Amino acid sequence: MNARIPTDLSSSLKAEEDSNHSDNPSFDTVLAARLSRRGLLRGGAGTVGTVVLGGMGLTACGGGDDPAPTTPPAPGTPTETLLGFGAVAKSLADMVVVPAGYTASVLYALGDPLNAGTAAYKNDGTDTGFENRAGDHHDGMEWFGLDAAGKASATATARGLLAMNHEATTDELRSSFFLHANGGTTTLPRPAAEVDKETAIHGVSIVEVQQAAGKWTTVQNSAFNHRLTCLSDNIQLNGPARGNALMVTKYSTTGVQTRGTLNNCGTGKTPWGSFVTGEENWAGYFTRASTDDTARGGATAKSVVSLKRYGRNAGSRSRHGWETGGADDKYARWNVGQSGASLDGSDDYRNELNTFGYIVEMDAYDKTQMPRKRTALGRFAHESAAFGKPVVGQPLAVYMGDDSRGEYIYKFVSTKTWVAADANPANRITTGDSYLDAGKLYVAKFASDGSGSWVELAMSNPLISGYATYAFADQADVLVNARLAADAVGATKMDRPEWCSTNVNNGEIYFTLTNNSNRAIDSASMPPDSANPRVYEDTKGASTSKGNVNGHILRVKEGAAGNAALVFTWDVYVFGAESGAAAGSVNLSSLTSDQDFSSPDGLAFSPSTGILWIQTDDGAYTDVTNCMMLAALPGTVGDGAKKTLSYTKADTTTLSVDTYVGQAPTADKLKRFLVGPKSCEITGMCETPDGKAMFINIQHPGETTAMADIADPTKYASQWPSNAGYGAGKRPRSATIVITKTDGGRIGS
Ligand code: FEO
Ligand code: CA
Ligand code: CA
Repeated sequence: MNARIPTDLSSSLKAEEDSNHSDNPSFDTVLAARLSRRGLLRGGAGTVGTVVLGGMGLTACGGGDDPAPTTPPAPGTPTETLLGFGAVAKSLADMVVVPAGYTASVLYALGDPLNAGTAAYKNDGTDTGFENRAGDHHDGMEWFGLDAAGKASATATARGLLAMNHEATTDELRSSFFLHANGGTTTLPRPAAEVDKETAIHGVSIVEVQQAAGKWTTVQNSAFNHRLTCLSDNIQLNGPARGNALMVTKYSTTGVQTRGTLNNCGTGKTPWGSFVTGEENWAGYFTRASTDDTARGGATAKSVVSLKRYGRNAGSRSRHGWETGGADDKYARWNVGQSGASLDGSDDYRNELNTFGYIVEMDAYDKTQMPRKRTALGRFAHESAAFGKPVVGQPLAVYMGDDSRGEYIYKFVSTKTWVAADANPANRITTGDSYLDAGKLYVAKFASDGSGSWVELAMSNPLISGYATYAFADQADVLVNARLAADAVGATKMDRPEWCSTNVNNGEIYFTLTNNSNRAIDSASMPPDSANPRVYEDTKGASTSKGNVNGHILRVKEGAAGNAALVFTWDVYVFGAESGAAAGSVNLSSLTSDQDFSSPDGLAFSPSTGILWIQTDDGAYTDVTNCMMLAALPGTVGDGAKKTLSYTKADTTTLSVDTYVGQAPTADKLKRFLVGPKSCEITGMCETPDGKAMFINIQHPGETTAMADIADPTKYASQWPSNAGYGAGKRPRSATIVITKTDGGRIGS
């Protein structure tokens, strides 16, 4: 996500990340469970030594009576030494740094043309026609191979399509200032011409790429090239909420479609070869009048409860003011206030927010197939969608996170069982209909003994059908208001679930939990718990951050039923930390200076090498290093040990938290591979099937630039990629880079 929060929007935007005020579960509940169940799974409690950590009222102690570590499986079928490269040092340089023996080249940047008739990007704020150019803030990305005849290919390595998200724009006071000649208009109304540019740079790109004589380029005139924006017509609403009363808008009075996809963050690839993209911080783009609670029937009206839970309180301002662009419906739709006289919402956009927040499926190879918003997978701030390993005759599982503070981890289990022939279907999008429109949605509860359970979100659960806060009407209502249903069943509040990915070696699922400033020792609703056990302070210059500042990566091993399992075990693969941080309470994974990182976000296992690639979107360690990507060869759930953290509460009582720390990664199992330019995040990862070309995205370089400095490039926080010799102008641009190895080997060896 874009970590920059403009000052005047901070309250409304932060609310997007912070709208879980449900009271489940308090630490007392977790502690009681621990006391009654401890030792069942992991052996007895560990209490070896206690270290008093000055200034934080925090003590830590560790235990070592857990089972011996198991030997991790060999990753993939390597023909070389994986992680054989020299670790890249932390860097504050305005450039992409990769290990010796590797090359990183800029391939596809904001504004690059996607058809023959579109001019090269001038990058001075005068460019238009973004519907036929690369969008902004490149994010999640997947590879779709093409053979020489231009047909889909699972083995092609020199020609393919990149399908990628364009999450957002670098903005200040409403304006995406690098897109406009003088920085644009920060007051309302916003000029239509500025709004039209800003809406067009959101969405998704499909761009053809090819390699010839060792050099990768985009194919400007490819017939596959394609953009979706947040105003694209006829996006289908599929699954149980299709046609539901909650989906009725002036645009679709039958509630079956909507315009566009928005704030697309993580991605995924289905077992049948289509692209899925998650809609993340969509709520912040919509405005809602301060009088709208009254218009809807008061604070207890269902729609008001729902809007608040999804971060749109009455009086919420929109991020860009797009609703002020003019009288046309394409502007009006950004105001979700109830203004019409109808009873069903068919004459305004009061229900528009219900049409965002989904996993959206599209066929990267076929732009004539209308994308589908898969409502069966629930509505929240989606990141990536990771499929469990498909097994013939068993249902498919899709793992997902909801990236806001204290939100949840979910799993969808398909009704249809996997059919091997569907790996190469005649029609990918209707195959998607058959797997992703019917099934069960579950939310995760993590127990303090290292076990966990998936709780179905269904009307058959009395906790849901009888929920006092919100009277669910039907299963569609449960899915559209999945956060409320998950509150009702007491799901575990997590430290901002970002991407997830399935370990290609053993099927375990990894989740990045990027950070959480709301995690606090004395918090009633979000004290440290076993799955989110750390609360500490981190200094950056003169400022101090509190909570779980650096994030962690949690992993789940499903029970015997595999994709359909209702129980699992878990541990924390690695805790993000500065290498110099306190070993007993913060740097729990003993990270060295070649391994330390903060705020993991993007996460992907390579299908080729089995390497786990970890990408950061950080604001805490950026006084020392720009954001980065690390390569890892993780073991398995349970390969480490139990650790008990003890905190002293304000009332001087002790709060003890058992957690499970994966085996500390040695120098040959976790290593920094890349550091990006200034003020960027690293996100999105895909490869050619041979693992010899890797594509990643550099998002929002220079995002800390002040809009007032737009005319003075020497004051830009970054001039990348122009300073790497790519393109005109000096304004920083989000871009895709391709990484190759000089000796032709696989990436990460
Ligand atoms: Fe778009 Fe949660 O990062
Ligand atoms: Ca992200
Ligand atoms: Ca620090």
